[in-house]
Amino acid sequence: MAKLAHAQWSSRMAFVLAAAGSAVGLGNIWRFSYMVGENGGAAFVLVYLACVALVGLPILVAEWMIGRRGQKNPIDTMADQARQNGKPAAWMGIGITGVLAAFLILSFYSVIGGWSLNYTLGSVIGTFSGGSSESIGEQFNGMLASPITLLGWHTAFMALVVAIVARGVTKGLESAARAMMPALVILMLILVGYGITTGHFGEAVDFMFSPDWSAVSGGVVLSAMGQAFFTLSLGMGIMVAYGSYLGEEINLISTARTVIILDTVIALLAGLAIFPIVFSNGLSPDAGPGLIFVTLPLAFGNMAGGTVLGLMFFLLLTFAALTSAISLLEPTVALLEERLSLPRLTATLIGGIAVWLLGVAALLSFNVWADFSLFGLNIFDFLDTLTAKFLLPLTGLGSIVFAAWCLDKESVRQELGFDVYDFSAWNILVKYIAPLGVITVFVTELM
Ligand code: TRP
Repeated sequence: MAKLAHAQWSSRMAFVLAAAGSAVGLGNIWRFSYMVGENGGAAFVLVYLACVALVGLPILVAEWMIGRRGQKNPIDTMADQARQNGKPAAWMGIGITGVLAAFLILSFYSVIGGWSLNYTLGSVIGTFSGGSSESIGEQFNGMLASPITLLGWHTAFMALVVAIVARGVTKGLESAARAMMPALVILMLILVGYGITTGHFGEAVDFMFSPDWSAVSGGVVLSAMGQAFFTLSLGMGIMVAYGSYLGEEINLISTARTVIILDTVIALLAGLAIFPIVFSNGLSPDAGPGLIFVTLPLAFGNMAGGTVLGLMFFLLLTFAALTSAISLLEPTVALLEERLSLPRLTATLIGGIAVWLLGVAALLSFNVWADFSLFGLNIFDFLDTLTAKFLLPLTGLGSIVFAAWCLDKESVRQELGFDVYDFSAWNILVKYIAPLGVITVFVTELM
């Protein structure tokens, strides 16, 4: 008995860590904090938490369930599952939009991964020690203004991703990164502790948790929903792929709850670390994508042991970004390999170069192409908006609608281990609440 329980625990634990490894990345620290800042704080945070619970959880479970049944890459899994359940092959479309989203996201993700690499080096050489908000802001703006600097770091980051994916050594790297996750949490706690010493912690807590509902617009809600998808790695077939490695004995609901709590706690800690620094230095919370790069170096530059802690932080952030980036390149590579019968190395190089090129366009939007806009957004913001606000939610919507309406009901009930009452509640959530929630957000935003 005890033996069995232990065996189950260890495999579930391994899976939780793997899924959390994909989920925890730049999205939790870089993207969450700047989104909160740009969207006015608490109202965004609360809507985001609601989206995570009411839409994120069921979609995560749906993606794992589809993956565990299909046991193949996301596109073929969707095709098989549709056929087996007597549904049109067009359901394969959500596999395709997923791969496309992964490709597009990686292009700008790599640019930010490059910033993180740059700041890792900056910490080693002590660039931030004793910095003021002006000097640190100038350094950041200097980086943005230089296409060559951005290009160099973006290229370095992408080269690392390609090298890892080409060699297929992701397993070793992922286990290393998993070991680092606790370290990342400890560093975040230290930063939160530093935030408390600034005397502006209360202001930050207010900013994040006491909402001004009048500031909520359709745009804020759509941003919050997009963030929920982005941070949980939903809507790209990545969780479908992870689900294909899941043993039958794993309880999807409780596992999803654990992964979501981990991911959310890291994001909230990031906010509690960053906003006290923002307020104590008179910075503006809506600084945009640069927010963590103009705040955290200030903390590291001015606290005891900050050089070492800063180095550790940016190194860990780079690692978290790398493990997520690898999972973002994989769908494109797998597709090129399987559909065009290319060798793995060739597929990785072609995919990597294509992503890199698009990333170059994204980084130029910070300087030479700053005035070029698509639908009123520069290229970087356009890629981010198109994926997080549209492709991810639509693909996620597709997977939950498929899971709720097309899969055999009784087998789903048994798979999720529900009794009849819990199953009715679950059905209401997945058939109506979650899909209508996503649809309502779209409709209100587009009107
Ligand atoms: N969730 C990761 C983050 O927060 C990013 C990421 C990795 C991702 N894989 C994904 C986002 C798949 C969407 C889908 O940084």
